[in-house]
Amino acid sequence: MSRRRILTGLAGTAAAGALFQSIVSRRARGAGSRSSLTFTEIPHIQDRTHHVADGYTVNVLLRWGDPVTADAPAFDPMNQSAEDQAQQFGYNSDYVGFQPLPAGSENPNRGLLCVNHEYTIPHLMFPNVEPKQKLTKAQTEIEMAAHGHSVVEIVKQRGKWSVVQNSRYNRRIHASTPIEMSGPAAGHERLRTNADPTGTDVLGTINNCAGGLTPWGTILIAEENFNGYFGGKPAKTNEARNFKRYGLASKSHSNWADYHNRFNVEKEPNEPNRFGWIVEINPYDPTSTPIKRTALGRFKHEGANAVVNRDGRIVVYSGDDQHFEYIYKFVSNDRYDPSKPAKNAELLDNGTLFVAKFNVDGTLHWQPLVWGTGPLTVANGFHSQADVLIETRYAADLLGATPMDRPEDVEPNPVTGTVYVMLTNNTKRTANRIDAVNPRAHNRHGHIVEMIPPGRGAGADHAALAFRWDIPLLAGDPGKPADGAKYHPEVSRASWLSTPDNCTFDSKGRLWIATDGASKSGLADGVWATDVEGGGRMLTKHFFAVPRGGELCGPCFTPDDKTFFGAVQHPADEKKSTFANPSTRWPDFKNDLPARPSVVVVNKNDDGLIGS
Ligand code: FEO
Ligand code: CA
Ligand code: CA
Repeated sequence: MSRRRILTGLAGTAAAGALFQSIVSRRARGAGSRSSLTFTEIPHIQDRTHHVADGYTVNVLLRWGDPVTADAPAFDPMNQSAEDQAQQFGYNSDYVGFQPLPAGSENPNRGLLCVNHEYTIPHLMFPNVEPKQKLTKAQTEIEMAAHGHSVVEIVKQRGKWSVVQNSRYNRRIHASTPIEMSGPAAGHERLRTNADPTGTDVLGTINNCAGGLTPWGTILIAEENFNGYFGGKPAKTNEARNFKRYGLASKSHSNWADYHNRFNVEKEPNEPNRFGWIVEINPYDPTSTPIKRTALGRFKHEGANAVVNRDGRIVVYSGDDQHFEYIYKFVSNDRYDPSKPAKNAELLDNGTLFVAKFNVDGTLHWQPLVWGTGPLTVANGFHSQADVLIETRYAADLLGATPMDRPEDVEPNPVTGTVYVMLTNNTKRTANRIDAVNPRAHNRHGHIVEMIPPGRGAGADHAALAFRWDIPLLAGDPGKPADGAKYHPEVSRASWLSTPDNCTFDSKGRLWIATDGASKSGLADGVWATDVEGGGRMLTKHFFAVPRGGELCGPCFTPDDKTFFGAVQHPADEKKSTFANPSTRWPDFKNDLPARPSVVVVNKNDDGLIGS
């Protein structure tokens, strides 16, 4: 127990009887006392603003349109331009990562907040735009500038966080930023376009959902639903199989292709092959070129979480977030060496990508996606490792990977080594397609899977070919038998959840779950926390609720556990909401300002440990 937790147990008692009193008071407090989390859970609540447990304060740190670069103009939503937006905080924040300053330190009070901007919602961003309305060229360019990523220096002074406005680190990356391709598929003919005959210089990154940090101080950001940005009718070329498997050009949700040839597959059939990758960014060098790491595969990456394996190799976990898609891990060939920063920069270019196959006996086998082995040969249209990586999904199909209920975050617990998979939902899974690891038909609430490597904690072998697996939680309402939910038996009426999406861990290894889609069950999305071991295992407690229409993304702690960051994405995204009449004007609540996706920061009122 930490000193703080001992002090909590001692409250109001004499030292001599402390332990006994602590046990007595735990029993007196009843069910929730099995949890190591000391906050009082909040009720299920859905209204115009956010809510957090008593004793905590929420501040809005960065809103869509806030200045990022030193000379960025103030936000003016009635007169927005692509030039302004490219210097301001982007739309729909998703992943949030905190990299301390100075580089290599564990400083919890100053750092670089690294935030993804996943997608745009034109009718909530622009005046006088109806849902599904075709946009002007200028509006599409604002959308492109509102995507991508922001790096923003922030500092905590006298217990409160603020943005360092003139920091040399502050930077925007968007859908037109030059990005390099590396790894086995870089330069391949299927990646070459009219604008880039080298197949190595890409413009931009899009639909950046979740991500993760590396031990060498970079950030990995995921390209998720890239397909929806491409228009035109794909020709019946040898890309037909690829296009079909990734849903390309079937239902473009943007009209970028009307004005930008590279998003028109009739004009640039290879451009989609340059998206769907993991992008590495060095936030400490604002002049660095981001890099798409093709060795990690091409699919609708939700995120990417790296861990130093017990033998020093780097393992990166990543889920492909779509119904019936797969879970992957990459294992580097070389070992991480903190004394050789330049060498570490190449770790993610050389290694093996694996896909997960779950067995009914509770084992899990990782199948390697290596060209020339098993079915990954010329006979199946794979002529090189580049082909395997460009069509990762098809290669994984042939290897018999297990189709999952939408794998979102896949993240190793830093204390136990067990890897947690958030499976958000899959209402398309019919009764004849259920299996041991996806056990519910019409899975509307989602579940959590543990992938358990051999060994524990820092001694876990993430590179092993065989793991075990378990299902510790099936989301839904435990009061409704039809939901088939599974939690700790004493979960309260306030603390069941639906649709787990992102997750993080505090330094005690407790799991903090963020949801996306709970509103379909009448709850606000938000954050639930739980122990993963001991008497409080899967005794979830409701910590935070987002304003109506929103979801909570990017949960993240500072290294001292005293600050929690989260991104409130798409507030007011509900039926009939528009720019002029949103269902909430969170967070400003001013009549001349629309709802604004924003990053919030949560601190305990006494500046103590979050969750205690
Ligand atoms: Fe962008 Fe899978 O959520
Ligand atoms: Ca997500
Ligand atoms: Ca989401």
